[in-house]
Amino acid sequence: MKSLLRLDAISTSYGNTRVLNDIDIDVKEGEFFFLLGPSGCGKTTLLRILSGLMHPDEGTVWLGGKDITRLPAHQRDINTVFQNYALFPHLNVYDNVAFGLRMKKRSEPEIRSKVEEALRLVSLPDFGKRMPTQMSGGQMQRVALARAIVNEPAVLLLDEPLGALDVKLRKQMQFELKQLQRKLGTTFICVTHDQDEAMTLGDRIAVMNHGRFEQIADAHTLYNQPASHFVCDFLGDCNFLQAVVNGRVDDKLSLTAEGNPISASAPQTTPSGACIIGVRPEKISLDGSRENRVEASVEQVVFTGSHYTVIAKTSRGTSLSCRMFNDRPSALPETGQAITLSWHHTDTIVLPPNLSQSQ
Ligand SMILES: Nc1ncnc2c1ncn2[C@@H]1O[C@H](COP(=O)(O)OP(=O)(O)O)[C@@H](O)[C@H]1O
Ligand SMILES: [Mg+2]
Repeated sequence: MKSLLRLDAISTSYGNTRVLNDIDIDVKEGEFFFLLGPSGCGKTTLLRILSGLMHPDEGTVWLGGKDITRLPAHQRDINTVFQNYALFPHLNVYDNVAFGLRMKKRSEPEIRSKVEEALRLVSLPDFGKRMPTQMSGGQMQRVALARAIVNEPAVLLLDEPLGALDVKLRKQMQFELKQLQRKLGTTFICVTHDQDEAMTLGDRIAVMNHGRFEQIADAHTLYNQPASHFVCDFLGDCNFLQAVVNGRVDDKLSLTAEGNPISASAPQTTPSGACIIGVRPEKISLDGSRENRVEASVEQVVFTGSHYTVIAKTSRGTSLSCRMFNDRPSALPETGQAITLSWHHTDTIVLPPNLSQSQ
């Protein structure tokens, strides 16, 4: 895929506080790209720099090979959908969607056909005469989308676009957003703090923490081969154990965690010394059948609808959670019972030690 939008060493501060630190991205044409990170990590600031509402202190923004760092927002081939929709309350749906095209002095027949097409794409074909106050959150969100896509921008920026919707509607809109993006083939850059949303929709995800990118990859890589404790912890649930690397034996890495011998797939460069290992709850078996084994006693068994969560404590007091699918209640362990947790070496995630961790 061809590169479309590139950020080169972007840094910026509010007063003396640096909120973006040496950010590089290369977003491809037609990509659904996510910026994912906790509240306050700098996502909206980065989006404002992309849209032209703000200029960075350092670095360059490139769009299609052109330096647009200092280009004002209205001259960029980029549109934004804001979290609060920002519809004009005194204009009906049709006029809201037509607004950008009227500013560009397009003919009314052209505007009509484009607005109708945009409303059809967001599944609101007969809503032109409605006022924003007469619509639900999900419908207003669709109007906001229609208003952005009607301009046929090269890049569509979305800031927490589904954040104001309830869970059920959010799931439905996620699906619609994905379909819309596929149909249009437009490059979408979407900001969220919701890891499920980013993993469901994103071709690639940049995980942000304190104004830096921790890792940029597809959902599968981020989940299975996270580059840091932060990424591993932010995407899904994970158990962590302090460990020490003993060395490499063929294609396996040998470690020790809480006195237990643990093996992992050997990474390309063999780490040494202290590290952290992560194991996802769904990778742990309770029947002791896998090669990495840790003795524990059951603290709690919790039913959460689709699965059971078994929380067990090691002899050194570390809590580990395990996810059991399709288990009959009679097959579950009881509180206080001694069990052997086990997992395959391919499911051991080896992470660098957590020197700057805030938790
Ligand atoms: N206009 C501003 N003036 C000063 N500080 C700001 C301003 N806007 C945001 N910040 C601070 O910058 C950091 C990043 O904010 P923001 O980009 O909005 O993060 P996010 O969208 O990831 O929640 C936060 O610490 C926030 O408090
Ligand atoms: Mg924000």
